[in-house]
Amino acid sequence: MDSLSEPIAENVDPLRALTLDTLRRRTSMKWHAYPEDVLPLWVAELDVPLAEPIIQAVTDAVRLGDTGYAAGCEYATALADFAAKRWGWHSLAVERTAIVPDVMQGVVEMLKLVTGPGDRVVVNSPVYPPFYMFLTHMDRQVVEAPLGADHRIDLDVLADTFRTATAAGGRVAYLLCSPHNPTGTVHTEAELSAVAALSAEHGVRVVADEIHAPLAPPDRYVPYLSVPGTADGLSLMSASKGWNLAGLKAALAIAGPGAAEELATLPEEVSHGPSHVGVIAHTAALRDGVGWLDALLAGLAANRRLLADLLAEHLPAVRYTPAESTYLAWLDCRDLGLGDRPAAYFLDQAKVALTCGVDFGTGGAGHARLNLGTHPDIVTDAIRRMAAAL
Ligand SMILES: Cc1ncc(COP(=O)(O)O)c(C=O)c1O
Repeated sequence: MDSLSEPIAENVDPLRALTLDTLRRRTSMKWHAYPEDVLPLWVAELDVPLAEPIIQAVTDAVRLGDTGYAAGCEYATALADFAAKRWGWHSLAVERTAIVPDVMQGVVEMLKLVTGPGDRVVVNSPVYPPFYMFLTHMDRQVVEAPLGADHRIDLDVLADTFRTATAAGGRVAYLLCSPHNPTGTVHTEAELSAVAALSAEHGVRVVADEIHAPLAPPDRYVPYLSVPGTADGLSLMSASKGWNLAGLKAALAIAGPGAAEELATLPEEVSHGPSHVGVIAHTAALRDGVGWLDALLAGLAANRRLLADLLAEHLPAVRYTPAESTYLAWLDCRDLGLGDRPAAYFLDQAKVALTCGVDFGTGGAGHARLNLGTHPDIVTDAIRRMAAAL
């Protein structure tokens, strides 16, 4: 089915709604970057129609000409309500939030509050490549504390990294990715408590990027600032990944009680960046798009099982542990003998675009990231093409 004009019911898997021909009409990065013979399973965009309440809210705004500057706290209120219902997190205080243009700009602004030029920021490699790009661009030193082989935070490694980073002088921050991109790891409450204790012990400030949080199973997700001991933490949240709103820019920075005064010093000009229509879209998603989100999560779970089955049948040498969250699959291709950049081989030989693992830092060589947020037929076609290319 192709629902470009037809609204889809809230309980229908949105991943099955659009055909390849329709998707190829898209002009955003995912569908623009490669020629027509390539299946693009790379950048984190979803191949879905938007949730009907978002379409309605944006259409109404455009018809009304409500396209001025962003104002008000509806987005933060909608997030606080969503967090309370979905995760049982009742202490997200709207007065301790600020609208920022998007999550990465929010990360930059939060890190400017707690570190200065030349200071060190710890990340858990392999991790979302723009962490390296944005941190370098803002003159911070990236220090890696690699994940364990089980894709979880290695607390001993993190403690050692905090120790050496702080011993080198200056202020140190830790940019936590929760859930983790690319592995989809959902950190447990015990892990987050340990992170909070280590950061307090070493005087390291935590900035949590929680953009993928809506894509985690609601009963498994623990917001960082809901964990005791995180009062001086800062977090970034957004409806951008869960509801595919990267082109409608708006995100929220959230401070724990001990970081509220710092957040209040955020320069006013930062609040000029978000799009008002973006704010309307994100608010509608969080307030009225939960049924659609649940249907998406069911579709993603099915796509993860499908991918595991397809790999077992066609590419058994590729190691893949289905993740608990996100729509990203982290493929360990080292046993294929394709070198550090299997994504380059698959693009060239199979016409399948994946994200190159090397860009995710230490632990990324020989890996590729596959975007599962698409029609199951496209996932099937991609794996068949990859297997045939070997
Ligand atoms: C972990 C993580 N942070 C941030 C972003 C980008 O967010 P934004 O477009 O709001 O800057 C992404 C996009 O995929 C991401 O995976």
